[in-house]
Order: sequence, then C-alpha cells, then structure tokens
Amino acid sequence: MSGIAVDLVSDTVTRPGPAMRRAMAEAEVGDEQNREDPTVNRLQDMVAELLGKEAALFLPSGTMCNQVAFAVHCRPGDEILLHETAHPLLYESGGPSALVGAVMRPLAGARGLYSAEQVRQAVRPRVHYMPRTRALSVEQTANIAGGVCWPLAQVEEVCAAGRAAGLACHMDGARLMNAVVATGTPAGAFAAPFDSVWLDLTKGLGAPVGAVLAGSRAFIEEGWVFKQRLGGAMRQAGIVAAGGVFALEHHVERLAEDHKRARQLARGLAELPGLAVDADRVETNIVIFDVRGTGLTGEEFGRRTLERSGVRFSVLGPTLVRAVTHLDVPPDGVDRALAAVRAALRG
Ligand SMILES: Cc1ncc(COP(=O)(O)O)c(C=O)c1O
Repeated sequence: MSGIAVDLVSDTVTRPGPAMRRAMAEAEVGDEQNREDPTVNRLQDMVAELLGKEAALFLPSGTMCNQVAFAVHCRPGDEILLHETAHPLLYESGGPSALVGAVMRPLAGARGLYSAEQVRQAVRPRVHYMPRTRALSVEQTANIAGGVCWPLAQVEEVCAAGRAAGLACHMDGARLMNAVVATGTPAGAFAAPFDSVWLDLTKGLGAPVGAVLAGSRAFIEEGWVFKQRLGGAMRQAGIVAAGGVFALEHHVERLAEDHKRARQLARGLAELPGLAVDADRVETNIVIFDVRGTGLTGEEFGRRTLERSGVRFSVLGPTLVRAVTHLDVPPDGVDRALAAVRAALRG
C-alpha cells in the first residue's frame, strides 16, 4: 500500500522476493486436483515429514485448513473447544458454524492458553440433549495473546485430556514455525499429540499463497473430499506451492531475526510515557501494547503513526495496538517505528 514505509500490521503483508519469484516461475506443474502436480506433491511431502505425519494436503489458506480439519473431525451439532481469542471463533466469518455445523465453545485462559483441567471440565456428558464435545483446537502461537508459545508439556497435557475424552485434537499452526524457532522444540514434537496440524506459508514464512494441513493418511484422504467440496482444489498450483517450498527451505531460521526485532521494538515502546507493554514477555514476532495512558484511543494512535510517519500498526481494541515483525520490515524499521510513536505522542 502506498504511503506505508514500515508495515507492522501483520506478517501476512510480505511480498515474494526475486529468488522466490524465480522458483515459482520455474516450478514444474501438473493438474493438482488429480494429484499430478509434482511441486504440490513435494511441498506436501516436505510438510508431512517436518510434522511427523503420514500425509499432507496443500490448501489455499490457513482458514481453509481449519474448516477442512473441523469438517473431517465433526458432524453437525458437534462441539469444538478452543480459546476465546482463537482465530476460527473471531476471524473466520463463523465458518465452522456455517460450513461444518459445529458449535464453538470458547475457553478462557491467560495468554491465549487453556489447561488440561479446563478441557476435562468442559467435555459434556454423553446425554442426547447436549452437543457432543468432539474436538479441541490449539493455536500455536497464540496470536491475539501476543504470539505466545504453547509450552510442549502443556500441549501434551491438553491433548492427553482431550484424547481420554474421545476428542480429536487439532492444531492451528499458523505460526507454528515461530514457536519452533523461539523454543528450539522440533515441529514434530509440537505436532505429535495432534490428529491434525497445519502451518501457514503466508505469515512469517513469506510465501504469497497457501497453507498445508497434515495428519494420518485416512484423515488426509477425507480432507481431499472437503477440499473439493469447498472449492479448494486447484490445477497448476505448483506455481504457488513453489513459493512454499522456497519459504520452508530459506525462511525458517531467519524467523529468529523477526523475534529479535519484536523484542527491540517492545523494549523501545516500554520506555515511552503512557505505553504499557510487557517487553520481557515477547516470545516471537508479535508485540501487543496498550496506549490508554497516552490519552489516545488505539484508532487515533494508529492514524497518527500512519499519517505522520508512514508506520502502520493494527488496532485490536479501544486502546490495544498490535505490531508484527516480518521479513519485509526494512533494516531500520524498528527505529523508524519508535520515532513514529514518539512523533504521535507529541500531540
Ligand atoms: C492464528 C491464525 N489462524 C488462522 C489464520 C488464517 O490463516 P489464513 O490467513 O492463511 O487464512 C490466521 C491468519 O491471520 C491466524 O493468525
């Protein structure tokens, strides 16, 4: 978008660089719906191996990964447990209700996490007049909480509780690789307790299109049916899948750089009057801060930084603002963002 010098609105704004574009232009392609696109097949194999699952399915978006997974796990009237800030609940246009017919049951919990005990308490008794609690969903990292990593032990406990109650366990891994890089925990370890898990190619990984859902062979076979039903099957999709292959080969380790810059930004913001940010709690590439003490609303704050300095933040609530670092933030982007905030606060 013109007029934006530093775009911290999301890690979805990245654009493919020349090397990624070259890989896309030169990709071998075939008919993806017939499973004949070699680049899509390669991407699926890469992700299945990375996540330690039998098979994987390339889909146009992470949102569709959630819909397809819930459609495989649930029948109309079934209930899905997920955090009250989870993406499918807030930002998928009610998809799980509209497309799957599932009831979403929000769980509270600090920092985007919930506990095994909450799962045990939430599972409904098997009586014919209650919805059947059928699945749980974990968001790695927890976006609206500020990119918080679910600790491996907590993921394992929550899934053990879910499994004991007969639930399917699903991971929305939109930023799973951020958690992998931040914690040093292998992706396969985070994915192991889940029946289904996906990762997004278009967030920190910087590809232009797509996400990949993984699970057992039987789960993925069923996933193909819903992919087709939702209109997500494609043709020469290797052109876009090649961006994902490139991203997995070149853009994973560099996420550490985004995390470092998010911490720098948070530390700088913490020094400014009226801003509340817990810089020590920034684990990955997302910084959430409160501008209430400045006397500005989030909207006013965001408008000032954008109009005066070309720095774009996202406004999450009346006084809550979010910044996300990514590979298209210029080298001096954090300094420019802090200068923009200082200018905004000058009135
Ligand atoms: C946690 C989380 N889940 C799911 C999605 C949806 O991903 P996509 O934009 O690829 O549909 C997002 C996108 O912002 C997200 O942040």
